[in-house]
Amino acid sequence: MDSLFLILVLSLAITCPTSSSTSDALSVGSSLSVEKPQDVLTSPGGVFTAGFHRVGNNSYCFAIWFNEPPSDSHQNRTIVWMANRDQPVNGKRSKLSLLKTGNLILTDAAQSDVWATSTASLSPACLSLNDSGNLVLLNLKTRVVLWQSFDSPTDTLLPLQPFTRTAILVSTRSQSNFSSGFYKFFFDNDNLLRLLFDGPEISSVYWPNPAYVSWDNARSTYNSSRTAVLDSLGSFTSSDNLTFLAADYGARLQRRLRIDFDGNLRLYSRKMPGESWVVSWQAFSDPCVIHGICGANSICSYDPGFGRKCSCLPGYQMENHTDWSLGCQPEFQFSYRQGESRFLQLTLVEFYGYDYNEYQNYSYAECENICLELDNCKGFQYTFASGVYNCNPKTQLRSGHRWNTQGYFYLRLPKAHLFSNPNIKPQPNFGLNCADRVVDLKREYVQARVSKPVKFLLWFACGVGGVEIICIVLVWGLLSSTLSKSNEDIHGYLLTATGFKRFSYAELKTATRGFSEEIGRGAGGVVYKGVLADERVAAIKVLNVANQGEAEFLAEASTIGRVNHMNLIEMWGYCSERKHRLLVYEYMEHGSLAQKLASNVLDWEKRFAIAVGTAKGLAYLHEECLEWVLHCDVKPQNILLDSNYQPKVADFGLSKLLNRDELKNSSFSRIRGTRGYIAPEWVYNLPITSKVDVYSYGVVVLEMVTGKNPTMDVDTIDGEQRRLIMWVRDKLKGTEIVSGMGEIIDPSFEGDYDAEKVEILLRVALHCVEENKDSRPTMSQVIEMLLHHGKDN
Ligand SMILES: *[C@@H]1O[C@H](CO)[C@@H](O)[C@H](O)[C@H]1NC(C)=O
Ligand SMILES: *[C@@H]1O[C@H](CO)[C@@H](O)[C@H](O)[C@H]1NC(C)=O
Ligand SMILES: *[C@@H]1O[C@H](CO)[C@@H](O)[C@H](O)[C@H]1NC(C)=O
Ligand SMILES: *[C@@H]1O[C@H](CO)[C@@H](O)[C@H](O)[C@H]1NC(C)=O
Ligand SMILES: *[C@@H]1O[C@H](CO)[C@@H](O)[C@H](O)[C@H]1NC(C)=O
Ligand SMILES: *[C@@H]1O[C@H](CO)[C@@H](O)[C@H](O)[C@H]1NC(C)=O
Ligand SMILES: *[C@@H]1O[C@H](CO)[C@@H](O)[C@H](O)[C@H]1NC(C)=O
Ligand SMILES: *[C@@H]1O[C@H](CO)[C@@H](O)[C@H](O)[C@H]1NC(C)=O
Repeated sequence: MDSLFLILVLSLAITCPTSSSTSDALSVGSSLSVEKPQDVLTSPGGVFTAGFHRVGNNSYCFAIWFNEPPSDSHQNRTIVWMANRDQPVNGKRSKLSLLKTGNLILTDAAQSDVWATSTASLSPACLSLNDSGNLVLLNLKTRVVLWQSFDSPTDTLLPLQPFTRTAILVSTRSQSNFSSGFYKFFFDNDNLLRLLFDGPEISSVYWPNPAYVSWDNARSTYNSSRTAVLDSLGSFTSSDNLTFLAADYGARLQRRLRIDFDGNLRLYSRKMPGESWVVSWQAFSDPCVIHGICGANSICSYDPGFGRKCSCLPGYQMENHTDWSLGCQPEFQFSYRQGESRFLQLTLVEFYGYDYNEYQNYSYAECENICLELDNCKGFQYTFASGVYNCNPKTQLRSGHRWNTQGYFYLRLPKAHLFSNPNIKPQPNFGLNCADRVVDLKREYVQARVSKPVKFLLWFACGVGGVEIICIVLVWGLLSSTLSKSNEDIHGYLLTATGFKRFSYAELKTATRGFSEEIGRGAGGVVYKGVLADERVAAIKVLNVANQGEAEFLAEASTIGRVNHMNLIEMWGYCSERKHRLLVYEYMEHGSLAQKLASNVLDWEKRFAIAVGTAKGLAYLHEECLEWVLHCDVKPQNILLDSNYQPKVADFGLSKLLNRDELKNSSFSRIRGTRGYIAPEWVYNLPITSKVDVYSYGVVVLEMVTGKNPTMDVDTIDGEQRRLIMWVRDKLKGTEIVSGMGEIIDPSFEGDYDAEKVEILLRVALHCVEENKDSRPTMSQVIEMLLHHGKDN
């Protein structure tokens, strides 16, 4: 027996020369067993591991995963490939074997083959895992690659893995179920990269925007080579002219492009093996545009803070409480007779496809009549475009989502139903946006969440961390109370809660009296004061964006528009017309922190409150699923003050709205920051993370405490832009903060301040401006430090 083993080892060493042990390569005649956890292949540099991964009770798939973080529990693995995702094998006697014939097979419980490479080779072959994540079956003699996992990806594309005309990425079924789901990413027959929802009932392409022709989406149909690749620096290029860059482009990070189970295509990156992944690019910032999420007769809505939610249309109820993709069914008998229908107006709602026809320049009455005469008309979209009203009767209500259309959707309901049964029940909703932060739910729990005590579980889930399930939408609460009022209230009640609106250029020109009163000027554009038609005073920003696609702009603007936090400036709407891109914000009477610091009206209490509020606003931006939407330009000019001197951070998200091409050239750092507040990462070309905002925040707090501008007033001479920080550190050197403080504090306090609170401000600020970004706290830690101190007092 021993000698046999020796021979085996020797033959291994000879046939698989790259390896010294079985953990590096699999040679002809050997196999990996599901029962031995040590039976895995590891890539030479230890980046990837291939082996059996448990996907359920007693069921396993042969998979490749990132080796870090090491986890025996199978829970936290980042899977990049699977052989038998749709046919897991038994936990006993299953194995992956490399046969003498050169065929690699996966057998289930020593009975049936569930998967095979169907390769053949006369000379010995060897299976090994590359550090790029490629599992390669090599003919040792001819060095020909017989088979490689890079040729048959599952849902993930790794850097340098060619994506070809035959490749197709298919999402998993859910966060925890790895079998093939409904979303696909592939090259279509017309040479374009597309995202397709291929569901059990319907199938439709949702990316690039199906409403536009390819050149409006900046894609080219003429290059039939159909290849795409993601490089290791984070740049994706495709033969259809699609290109994009990771938000952290340039740094050598671990990356992966994945079609997630929610249908969004996301690029993830992480700096250190074992850290958690961050999204550095995604196809949709509004995930509701993705088809097939909520099923028929429902509306998807999205809030960056809470994720995605589904709700049934009025008069409809959830078909099956275990599955939103089945949609909603009418609560009423679906047979309309003439004169017995009513139309309910819904605002900010759009349904994709299933138009009976498009009728241009039709009056409302004409459109209503068309719908009434059709037996299967469920309602109609009545929108204003290019100077006329368009009428689109719909035969099915699919892919409903909130959208800033100029016009309304009119839902057809039986007359009797609407008035005899006004109490439209709140519907349970779920959200699943922060795909990678969602913890892996146990199956029992998933099933339990939709059973009887739905409400309790919903609250429970919110408390637990808001995973997958979201509380009942307030809109429906509002709705049920509104519906009991008069008919007029019914008209236009729905989903108007946000008031986010699309303005015409003419409207904004009138509001600003021809852009006459300039109130600010920044990297993104010039800001004017204006009075809207409804007499609200607004700050209107005219963006300098040269050639950004409308669709992209709309997606970004509506994401920013839905960010809602008391310490973030509220966006009321936007305008996108021809070359013009404008954003409409609430106007702040007290102007900016910069102006108020200059005029000495802020005592230390106000400054402390401003420091706390600003930290809350930034923490919300960084941590509510938006960590990759950095502010990147935190400075006193961008911190506005309301009538109570509460701060509101302005201009967030703009770095995303500015042209992405800027990322490529060296002016990148110039756009995304202001002298004196720029973190060292920009200067040294290090990866940009939310810690750049923390740094800038630290400088702002130092400025509030000392009353000195970080670039101008400090009289030390070292020619560096971080002079204020040097000066403060210098003054405090060797002394306790408390005793060194007197000299640096803003003289306008005239000695009237709470030494303890000012000290904590200084401590936090100095902590925030550490050179090494990993030493800096996160924004929520900053809040913790500031508030914890407040309580002690
Ligand atoms: C995953 O989903 C498929 C399709 O719905 C189902 O057949 C399978 O049992 C699920 N697997 C697990 C482990 O839940
Ligand atoms: C998984 O196995 C455990 C123990 O064998 C059992 O208690 C549990 O009910 C199983 N879960 C499912 C979903 O089958
Ligand atoms: C998975 O990762 C999370 C967060 O990083 C951690 O809290 C948890 O303990 C990990 N689970 C396992 C089983 O390692
Ligand atoms: C294996 O990876 C190395 C670098 O990581 C690469 O140069 C080589 O071409 C890869 N081989 C195969 C067969 O993918
Ligand atoms: C594709 O990109 C190239 C280089 O950026 C450009 O010259 C060309 O016009 C683009 N083609 C289309 C059809 O957009
Ligand atoms: C087609 O795309 C490939 C890959 O991007 C590129 O190398 C090739 O030059 C393109 N061909 C034409 C005719 O543009
Ligand atoms: C909902 O779907 C589940 C699983 O498909 C099924 O078992 C259940 O009977 C359905 N419930 C209703 C009310 O149709
Ligand atoms: C729309 O229709 C009205 C009358 O039906 C007509 O006068 C008007 O010119 C039409 N407008 C356009 C843009 O076709």
